[in-house]
Amino acid sequence: MNRIFNLFIILIIITVIACESEDVEVAVYDATPYLFSFPENFGDPELPKDNNLTKEGVKLGKMLFFEKALSKDGTQSCASCHVQNDGFSDKNQFSKGVDGLFGKRQAMPIFNMAWHKSGFFWDGRAATLREQSLKPIQDPLEMHETLENVVSKLSTSKTYTDQFIRAFGTSEVSSTKVSLALEQFMMTIVSFDSKYDQYLAGRVTLSESEERGRSLFFTEYNQFFPDLSGADCAHCHSGPNFENGEFMNNGLDKDSDFTDTGREKVTNLVADRGTFLIPSLRNIANTAPYMHDGRFKTLEEVVEHYNSGVKMSSTVSPLILPTISKGLGLSAQDKIDLVNFLKTLSDQKFLTNPEYAQ
Ligand code: HEC
Ligand code: HEC
Repeated sequence: MNRIFNLFIILIIITVIACESEDVEVAVYDATPYLFSFPENFGDPELPKDNNLTKEGVKLGKMLFFEKALSKDGTQSCASCHVQNDGFSDKNQFSKGVDGLFGKRQAMPIFNMAWHKSGFFWDGRAATLREQSLKPIQDPLEMHETLENVVSKLSTSKTYTDQFIRAFGTSEVSSTKVSLALEQFMMTIVSFDSKYDQYLAGRVTLSESEERGRSLFFTEYNQFFPDLSGADCAHCHSGPNFENGEFMNNGLDKDSDFTDTGREKVTNLVADRGTFLIPSLRNIANTAPYMHDGRFKTLEEVVEHYNSGVKMSSTVSPLILPTISKGLGLSAQDKIDLVNFLKTLSDQKFLTNPEYAQ
């Protein structure tokens, strides 16, 4: 009798466990909104209205961002070239794709994407992040995979089909949903807690050198009164994200030396030849090398470019033109101070935030 009773109990326990584990297994659609927080001084973000951020959608996007199966030979994910501690950029001048071929531009950092007003990539050729996100997968110099293969690889994984259910209410994988999930995750990568932000909020003070650098950064160039002249950076690197959403030529090359025509490739306008998106300077100390072709290894080299290396060309920005003949005239100390100010734009919380890590 006792034995039978024991068996009965065991059976009940097994049934309970089986039911419980089944409960866990069944994925259900969950549209819990993802709380997107940002500072007031940033202004309204442009979040996609037809792709609301949900916790499960963001999670799927993050899984995909780190997923090597998005590449032809399973060796590369988005995160291979967009490394968190490098501000989601990478340290190489040109990133190497799965076929060992090098791309033609420096990887761009990824943060504060909801304030990007002029499209994505150095030439703004992708209007939206969802459009952008499918390009590296198919690019022969990057992940070199077909969207059909990506869909079929993900479809064989229960982990993924379950997550597609949680995020979109269906286990059916499609490249559109892949792009929507990646868009959601990338929108959530934000950075707004640098030393400079803390200084603006009155929580810390800048060192003497950083403060001099700040002043130089925001002071206009004055060719008539050198004592009043600054480094004039904020004409172009303006606003809370140190970018104004415009495409400009900051004098890297003479007309005869252009190897990448930049924005002209998108608009077919000669006036756009050699112009590139003005990048944000947030986390700039972490995103070397610099410029669309990664030609400068250090911030010191960048500052020297603006100080004495700006080249004349037919499309050079009128905002930088007046500095060409004599240069900015920065002293050795000025240059150190400017670099020290740029370093205050790094945000350790963002660079190590576990929410963005695999
Ligand atoms: C082989 C390296 C490599 C891989 C892999 C890669 N990227 Fe990139 N990424 C780059 C480069 C280089 C650029 C700049 C390209 C250009 O402007 O033409 C870039 C630009 C971007 C941008 C534009 C940012 C801006 O400010 O406009 C985003 C967003 C982005 N990548 C997301 C992704 C996603 C999502 C994936 C995975 C699906 C991915 N990348 C895979 C190298 C890579
Ligand atoms: C006329 C507009 C303009 C002015 C003025 C200007 N910049 Fe730039 N800056 C740009 C553009 C455009 C780029 C991207 C150019 C490219 O890659 O071809 C850029 C790129 C940079 C980069 C590299 C960013 C990256 O992610 O690779 C740094 C750093 C930088 N600028 C700092 C400064 C500093 C410091 C000053 C002031 C001394 C300054 N800029 C003045 C337009 C400007």
